[in-house]
Amino acid sequence: MSLTLYLADWFRRLSPFTGTTLPHVATYTRELPVSMARMYENAIDGDHLPWLHRETFTDMTISESDNTGWRGQGYLQPRSFTTWMELELRLDRENHRWITTTTRGLGKGSQVITHAIPLAENRIKVVVDFYVPKLPKALHKMYGKQLVDTYTRLYDQDLEMMRTRQRALDIAASAQPDSNPARIVLGNRTGLDSQLPLQFELAGRPYRLVRIGDKLVAHASTCPHRLGPLQDAKVVDGQVECPWHGYRFNVISGECTSGQHGQLPLAPVISIDNDEVVASSEENV
Ligand code: FES
Ligand SMILES: [Fe+2]
Repeated sequence: MSLTLYLADWFRRLSPFTGTTLPHVATYTRELPVSMARMYENAIDGDHLPWLHRETFTDMTISESDNTGWRGQGYLQPRSFTTWMELELRLDRENHRWITTTTRGLGKGSQVITHAIPLAENRIKVVVDFYVPKLPKALHKMYGKQLVDTYTRLYDQDLEMMRTRQRALDIAASAQPDSNPARIVLGNRTGLDSQLPLQFELAGRPYRLVRIGDKLVAHASTCPHRLGPLQDAKVVDGQVECPWHGYRFNVISGECTSGQHGQLPLAPVISIDNDEVVASSEENV
């Protein structure tokens, strides 16, 4: 957030003026190639804010959440005592909309009302209206531009997340474990290290081969929480961290090590056969 905007927000919050209506300062619209189901899921998922949108939010804790919304407290980037805020989102499925209110801190009293309009099975349009109380008319344009720029970035990231999740759901729905080979040669033992980490598929499911110490290990490259992508996650201390909500998993045991419930799906067993590295489904070993 720019210094000018921050000062404008304080000026607004300290202003004695109280209007009866919330001034509308900007609208952001965008067509998105996703279903309403993916969009609603994204809206009521407050936990992704400090992970997927880490350049915008930090140290955000979701203190309440259910299938109608959430309430969370945290900071806008860059973190300082001046950028703390509390947000609340309420989903109104009947009217295809959700309202995000800043209930405390920076931006207090502001509301963002998003309408989602279904255009086709996997295509929607969002119309996002920004309302900021007590903001002088002269500042609407500057304030509105900052909000639209921020939401453009947030929706770029949300779109990537929703499309990746839809692809993962489609793969899971169409995977035919018995109709594909349950054994695959990944390469020659001597040349393989230069290709690590190596992504591969077995029985239609994505995995990744990594080296942990002197062992070659395969792990599922889809997160069991909401099917987030693990194929590019760095392996640190034998663990991978999902970029969507920060769940961490032990690559060898699959166990969730960040305190939530969850376990990586069973991965293929890696063995050496005639100097070749082979991945096999557990039941066939
Ligand atoms: S999808 Fe949520 S932590 Fe991976
Ligand atoms: Fe988001």
